[in-house]
Amino acid sequence: MSVIIFGSINMDLVVRSPRLPEPGETLIGHSFETVPGGKGANQAVAVARLGIQTALIGRIGNDGFGQTLLQGLESDGITCDRVLHDASTHSGVAMIAVDDASENNIIVIPGANGNVGEADVDRLRAALPQAQVLLLQLEIPLPAVLAAAQAAKDAGVTVILDPAPARSDLPDSLYPLIDILTPNQVEARQLAGFPVNDIETAHRAAIVLRQRGVKTVIVKLGKLGALCVTESETFQIPIFPVRAVDTVAAGDAFNGGLAAGLAADLPLSQAATQAAAVAALSVTKPGAQPSLPTRAELEAFLAQRETPSTPAD
Ligand code: RIB
Repeated sequence: MSVIIFGSINMDLVVRSPRLPEPGETLIGHSFETVPGGKGANQAVAVARLGIQTALIGRIGNDGFGQTLLQGLESDGITCDRVLHDASTHSGVAMIAVDDASENNIIVIPGANGNVGEADVDRLRAALPQAQVLLLQLEIPLPAVLAAAQAAKDAGVTVILDPAPARSDLPDSLYPLIDILTPNQVEARQLAGFPVNDIETAHRAAIVLRQRGVKTVIVKLGKLGALCVTESETFQIPIFPVRAVDTVAAGDAFNGGLAAGLAADLPLSQAATQAAAVAALSVTKPGAQPSLPTRAELEAFLAQRETPSTPAD
């Protein structure tokens, strides 16, 4: 039971302000802090905190952020011996603004993540024989994502792609390599080419994406829950209502919970329910990696809410 995450590692530079600024506007905000983040690293932390053996493959840069990020990942028990120190550039950073309504916007400067390529895929290939699941996102160059998915397919490892940040230009050859694709509404719209804002449009998008070769599509619909479409069934994933304080890394929490569930041999529906619970818990705390729950926190949360509500209730 082990998961490899091949992806980005960022330091998040987080400002909080009453509201998000208009273009050209200067606002006085509440606070500033640096918080470990990056979609790849967040997903690795989400998996590791659920007690699953986890390895992260990616790059940090030539600065203090890189060392701090690495130390944090290792303290979560993540194997980082295949994380490369890239002397040619800085570590990835994300400028994140969060307002009093918990809305956010994010600008990512990839730094070392932008140099992930064939050499990193070689390090991945060497690690794949020990893995059950490979988790990918889109904060590293697309050719590296494609090569990593192909390597995992060749090794018989389950491939989950979180198509974030959203883009519409995934190569046709990527789709058949993906076992599970997990777009949110924005990403589903970009990929499918039409608005996705409810269960019906999510279902149509999932069908389009399955026709391109993806085996299973899980469309995350925020407060409406999520819809899972496989070759043989379509089902809605339960919602765990919580009071959201910060949604940064909620998608990462979902993907980490899903990968951890599959690595622990849970059936897809149970792994997806676990994913929804991990994502719900993550929005109750601020920040990316600090918001990701441990196995004990997840179990306590699930015990409190024995019967989650479904969108149809
Ligand atoms: O998914 C959340 C992450 O997106 C943040 O941690 C930030 O680093 C950006 O990559």
